Amino acid sequence: MNDVVLKTEGLKKVIGKRTIVSDISLELHKGEIFGFLGPNGAGKSTTIKMIVGLSKITEGNIYISGHSVKTEFKKAMRNVGCIVENPDLYKYMSGLDNLRMFAKMYPSVTEQRINEVVKIVDLEKAIKNKVKTYSLGMKQRLGIAQAILHSPDLMILDEPTNGLDPAGIHDMRELLRKLCSETGLTVLVSSHILSEMQLMCDRVGIINKGKIVTVKTIDELINMTNDDDKAVMVIKTDNNKKAEEIIKAKAIKCISVAEGVQVETSKENVPAIVADLTAQGIAIFGMDNKDTHTLEDVFMKLTGEGK
Ligand SMILES: Nc1ncnc2c1ncn2[C@@H]1O[C@H](COP(=O)(O)OP(=O)(O)OP(=O)(O)O)[C@@H](O)[C@H]1O
Ligand SMILES: [Mg+2]
Repeated sequence: MNDVVLKTEGLKKVIGKRTIVSDISLELHKGEIFGFLGPNGAGKSTTIKMIVGLSKITEGNIYISGHSVKTEFKKAMRNVGCIVENPDLYKYMSGLDNLRMFAKMYPSVTEQRINEVVKIVDLEKAIKNKVKTYSLGMKQRLGIAQAILHSPDLMILDEPTNGLDPAGIHDMRELLRKLCSETGLTVLVSSHILSEMQLMCDRVGIINKGKIVTVKTIDELINMTNDDDKAVMVIKTDNNKKAEEIIKAKAIKCISVAEGVQVETSKENVPAIVADLTAQGIAIFGMDNKDTHTLEDVFMKLTGEGK
């Protein structure tokens, strides 16, 4: 069976004389969270607006659940829910009334379905309160409830974590994961923040200056930096101070961090370091590879944003 939920073919947008995006060809599969990652002005919102029918396609085409946005617009749109920039909410109305009003656009959405989505996004307690009393995270979740009300195959969120605090980002991530695994929803989420995408997505498409630079799974992206043999790791021991001295004595870069000692060296040195520490009576409780900057490195390399 064909599990392609979103397909864009050679998508292009020209505004005036300027080509904003071109050659955007993507395929998103059922149940995956796909990250659309790129710096400010890369063309993420422009592409998304074409996908959800808010902006005219200059060239190419888009298929949502097999329906052409150009020739079967209504059918295509019936299969997508979206939040572009901020959710459209009436702040003097309750969350529930917002959903009820939105539901009027879809005759198939029942009161039971409304209650169901309220539960999914975990807003049962606050749903009767006015939206103006909601936190940003709650508004985003209400926006998601609105977007999935008509049970679309595809949900598109443009920068959903913008302005959210770490707890809000965590909740958002959990919610998206739950939706995808439990309902088979496919999600396209844009962001310019690498670390968030890394945690949230199955695959990432990197866009820069209006073009897709690469499409990779998160693992593939991280592995791209593993071609050099450098290792950065944090070793947790029962005596970090002594461990640091032992490692430094080998002329290897080593600093104390909260979790243990952070070592930066070539991979071939790692077994000897471990052996030395053990031989000198240091107990090793764990080693964490520090990959926090690698995705950023890849991104910089691919987009030529680096120095
Ligand atoms: N209506 C328009 N007219 C002219 N230029 C536009 C228009 N809309 C967008 N642009 C330009 O197209 C480029 C891409 O914009 P877009 O909003 O798609 O980027 P983005 O990747 O969403 O960026 P951000 O991370 O800042 O949201 C920008 O240089 C922007 O100035
Ligand atoms: Mg944008």
